[in-house]
Amino acid sequence: MSITFRPINAAVGFAAEVTGIDLRQPLDRNGFLPIRDGLDEYGVLVFHGQDLDEEGQIAFSRHFGELEISIRRHRPRAVAHDEISDITNVAPDGSIYPLDSEHMSYNLGNQLWHADSSFKKIPAIASLLHARDVPPLGGATEFADQRAAWDGLTAETQARIDGMVGLHSLAHSRAAMGYDAKEKFLAAETAEVPPVPQALVQTNPRTGRRALYAGAHVSGIIGLDKPESDALLAELRDQATQTHLQYHHDWQAGDLVIWDDRATLHRGRPWDNSYRRVMRRTTVAGDGPTA
Ligand code: OGA
Ligand code: MN
Repeated sequence: MSITFRPINAAVGFAAEVTGIDLRQPLDRNGFLPIRDGLDEYGVLVFHGQDLDEEGQIAFSRHFGELEISIRRHRPRAVAHDEISDITNVAPDGSIYPLDSEHMSYNLGNQLWHADSSFKKIPAIASLLHARDVPPLGGATEFADQRAAWDGLTAETQARIDGMVGLHSLAHSRAAMGYDAKEKFLAAETAEVPPVPQALVQTNPRTGRRALYAGAHVSGIIGLDKPESDALLAELRDQATQTHLQYHHDWQAGDLVIWDDRATLHRGRPWDNSYRRVMRRTTVAGDGPTA
């Protein structure tokens, strides 16, 4: 078997389908490097037919670096490992969570364009999402290339925003979808995610490519007054989510999709909640704050 990358959004050089690898098999450094380089190049990698359990997903994910632990680990969950986020509408007892439950109303925030864990002091560099059970229709995930978004800004706007710092907060993005974090977060969760600063423009240390970093967790830009900050963020988000920068992923069970959280934004799409949707995410921690 030899590993092959097929670009999907070829016009932008964004997202690639990867074939010729079984992610359950042990990988040495030489086997892993093409995958890391592929992620640097394409921003999103799609693997089909990967029969991974929690341990297998964790073992493969660790090639990218240390894994984050889920901030929802204090809740009753259907997963065994703190390194797994269970992105699902299925409760531990097998029933489907109602749409107005705390669990579903928290998860609704995933439907806004965002980068995972940008609300943590040290934000994620990559996420790996594995589909276990998918609805027959809907429930896609969309990705947008933030390197191409940066490249498309005028030189004037690039010069203006280079060096700016955004304030990121999980409570902010959850509030935008009607979730009251003050009321619903556990004390340990509130303590874990106070608002944090992050550079508005990220740079990949290996390729030097720059990328916009202004997803839904950003509540404002430090040093600008609110009207100016809101106007700039609205302009940047329009730029960031243009359809030609996107990749739309319709899931099949067994898909593993990896994305670079410093180079892309993503959002989940709705589906009919009478169908089960069970996804497992591992998240690779960065090695330092970005601002
Ligand atoms: C995530 C996420 C969206 C989806 O797992 O980080 O945003 O479609 N998921 O489940
Ligand atoms: Mn996400």
